[in-house]
This record gives sequence, structure tokens and C-alpha cells, in this order.
Amino acid sequence: MFKDNFGILVLIALGCGFSQSCEVDVRYPYPLFSKQFGSKNITFRAKKSGIRLSIGESIKIYCGSGLNLEAPYYSSSYNVQQTAFITCNKDNRIEKLPDIYGETLTAYCKSTSGPQLYESQKKLPNCDGYMNYVIGEKTPFMGTTTKFALCYDIESFTLKYANYIAYQKHDMWISHEGHSNELSADFGQKVDNLDNYFHFMSQSSFNNSRDQMQNLDETFFKDFQFDFDSILQDDLDETKKSDFAYIFNIMWWRTLRQNNWRFFLDALKKRTKSEKYLVYIGSYGNATMPARKGATDLLVDLSVRSSNLVVTAPTYIWSYVKSLTTDNEEEFVVIAHNSPYVVAPDHSEFCTNDICDEIAWLKESQFGHLRRIPTFGYTFCCRAEDVAKVINYFPYAKEKMETTTGAATDIQTSKNIEDDNPV
Ligand SMILES: *[C@@H]1O[C@H](CO)[C@@H](O)[C@H](O)[C@H]1NC(C)=O
Ligand SMILES: *[C@@H]1O[C@H](CO)[C@@H](O)[C@H](O)[C@H]1NC(C)=O
Ligand SMILES: *[C@@H]1O[C@H](CO)[C@@H](O)[C@H](O)[C@H]1NC(C)=O
Repeated sequence: MFKDNFGILVLIALGCGFSQSCEVDVRYPYPLFSKQFGSKNITFRAKKSGIRLSIGESIKIYCGSGLNLEAPYYSSSYNVQQTAFITCNKDNRIEKLPDIYGETLTAYCKSTSGPQLYESQKKLPNCDGYMNYVIGEKTPFMGTTTKFALCYDIESFTLKYANYIAYQKHDMWISHEGHSNELSADFGQKVDNLDNYFHFMSQSSFNNSRDQMQNLDETFFKDFQFDFDSILQDDLDETKKSDFAYIFNIMWWRTLRQNNWRFFLDALKKRTKSEKYLVYIGSYGNATMPARKGATDLLVDLSVRSSNLVVTAPTYIWSYVKSLTTDNEEEFVVIAHNSPYVVAPDHSEFCTNDICDEIAWLKESQFGHLRRIPTFGYTFCCRAEDVAKVINYFPYAKEKMETTTGAATDIQTSKNIEDDNPV
């Protein structure tokens, strides 16, 4: 009985789905959509599966680099400006009069040149000696949207750290809600793509040089796998495929990248479905390895050299995670050993106590269970003020260290006191 009803319901639902809506497919580079929901205009980036409009519904599509619209049977490829306004009419056809009228529509941007690199006038924390950049987009509906703020060393062309908001609803902006101010950076001057003027290690030349090194018999290098890949190991398609991918590439120990770092990001991703976090991510140190077989007490840089460039694996990858939810003061730094050549990996270079287990959602995750296993990449957590004493460009404001380190400790202490002995 229940089963029959269920079947009918499914049929009805499917039937409605097909007959009462229009489909808009999207392709990379993905456009933005903007729509009025009641009193608010919401701008969002469509999921890969596209969007479905009900009859009578209208939506605005936007690409900074110019919009391509394709509708089969009609105007096959329609090149509009940056914005198009489309409607799902009562015949379940998409209308963008005068040219487009069809069952389906595919929308994509002309090029990835949507997000651009800008120099920020506002300085990021502890980034005085370096360049302060922003990667973001200016859109007519929303003003500016920042995807990343970057602290970048232009002399050595190395990223000190990247800063972004981790929130699963991040690709959505509600009008007039000050969304771009959460990162402490602004859109100053546009900067030309550095890649056009300077040499950066490419993934393929890294691979070639790495593979050559791996064929050398006498080196310990060949016993482990390394990749040149983005420090942002997430489904951030847009960064990976964007013009700025080279800014984010670092030399990773593959085992860490695919195991404990992945598990940490998975735990964070799950958490950011409900909570919003400010995340800084960077690297520190130059990893070394035993020189060669037989000469065990000599260390050499763990690096890959192409004909004109060299990249060294950082000793550590770190991520400073700070809650942006008002009643949540959670704040910690996850740090990972990015090298298989460390004898007894631990947290002692940065802090006296590993605090990962104080964060319940980390402790209970797969990451929490596996993070100390060295063959998955040993990982630990410390407080930001401790890490800031070791890494001089760590994004923890100096003033804060001088004036409020005590206060931060007090908060921690007072919480403990409350637990034991409620006043
Ligand atoms: C939303 O967008 C519409 C059309 O673009 C505009 O007329 C309206 O003023 C906007 N509303 C808000 C709250 O921004
Ligand atoms: C480099 O090598 C890695 C690992 O073998 C591979 O996944 C990646 O696709 C290669 N990249 C390029 C650009 O060849
Ligand atoms: C790593 O090497 C670079 C370049 O040689 C150097 O500037 C930097 O200070 C080194 N980092 C550490 C932590 O020793």
C-alpha cells in the first residue's frame, strides 16, 4: 500500500520536474546568476548540474569576461555582453528575446578572466614586508567579491600564505550584506599576471625533473612521491584552472596531501556546512633529506631542479582556522610534516601541547584518528600565538600578541574555571 503510493508520488514528482520547468546548463568557466528572492537579490555561482527555472521565473546571468549562450536549434551560439536576462515561459521554453527561444540553454563565460589580481591597500596581518594581493571579481550587481587574499613575497616569488572564507555557501552573496569585508583586504590597483613576465615552475617541468631524479639510483628521493600542486587542496576548480594557479603551487609530499591533509580538509568541509571559518593557509621551512645512500649523516635540500628553476619542499604546511560565528571562539592551527624523512615527527618546534583533541569535530573525524600516524603524514595542532613566535610572517597580528595574548589565555582559563567551579 505504502509502496504503491510512493510509486505514484515519484511519478508525479518526475512528471512535474520535466513538464513544469526549464533547464539552464552551465559549463566551465561558470557564470554567476542573480535573482531576486523576496526583498533580497542573491547572486550565486551555479552548481555544475546547472539550474532549473519554474514557469514564469526569470534570472540574470553574468560573466565579467563576456557571456556565451548556446541554445540548440535556435541561434546556435549567441554572444551577448556581460549580462543576459532570461525567462522560463509557459511552453517550458527559455526566452532571451529576440534571439533565443529553446528547451535548453547552456551558459558559460568567454574566458576565465573573471577573477583578477589586485594589490590591496589594506595590509594583511604580519605581511608588511611582502605584497598584499587579492584575487577577486568586480560584478555590477554585487560590487566586489574577494575569493582570496594573499601575502606574497615578490622577491622570491613565493606565497607566504593565502586567506579565504571556508563556508559551503560561500559562492553566494546577498545584496548589501558587506560580504567582501570579511577578509581584511581591498581591491586597490589591478596587477598584471606575473606569469606573463616571469618564469614559474610549471607542473610539467616539475614532473620531468622529478622523474629524472627518481631514476637516479643512489638518491633517497626515489623512495617517496612528490608533486607540485596547489596549496589549496580543495575542489576549488576555479583556482586550479584560473590564470593564477601558479601562485598556489608548492612541492607536496604526496602521502600527506592524499591522506592526513585530505582528511583534515574533509573534516573542515563537513564543519563548514554549518559554521563559517576564516582560513589562512601557508607553508614553512625548507625540508631536507639524507644526501645519498651510504652517506647517511649529510643532509641536502628536498628539492626539484629544472634547467632554470628550483623548488624546495616546505618542511611544514599549516592552516590557521578561526571561527567567524559570533558565539564561537574556536581558533587553532593545524600543522603537518610535509616530509617522509623526519626521524620522530612531533609538535615540539611550535608548541608544548598538541591541541587537536580539544576540538571535538576534529577529534572525532577520520583525521582525528589517523593524524599521528607518520606514514599518512604526521599532523598536530597548536595555538596561533605560539606559532606566531616561530613563523615571522604568521597572520597573527603583532599588536594582538603584545596586548592580548594575556587576554586570550584568560579566556581559556576562565572557561576552565567555570567548568570546575561555576561562579
Ligand atoms: C534587485 O535587482 C533588481 C533588478 O536588477 C533591482 O531593481 C532591485 O532594486 C534590486 N534590489 C535590491 C534589494 O538590491
Ligand atoms: C604530474 O605528475 C602527477 C603524478 O604523477 C600527475 O598526477 C600530474 O597529472 C602530472 N602533471 C602534469 C602537468 O604532467
Ligand atoms: C628557506 O630557504 C629560503 C631560500 O634559501 C630562505 O630564504 C629561508 O629563510 C629558508 N627558511 C627557513 C625557515 O630556514
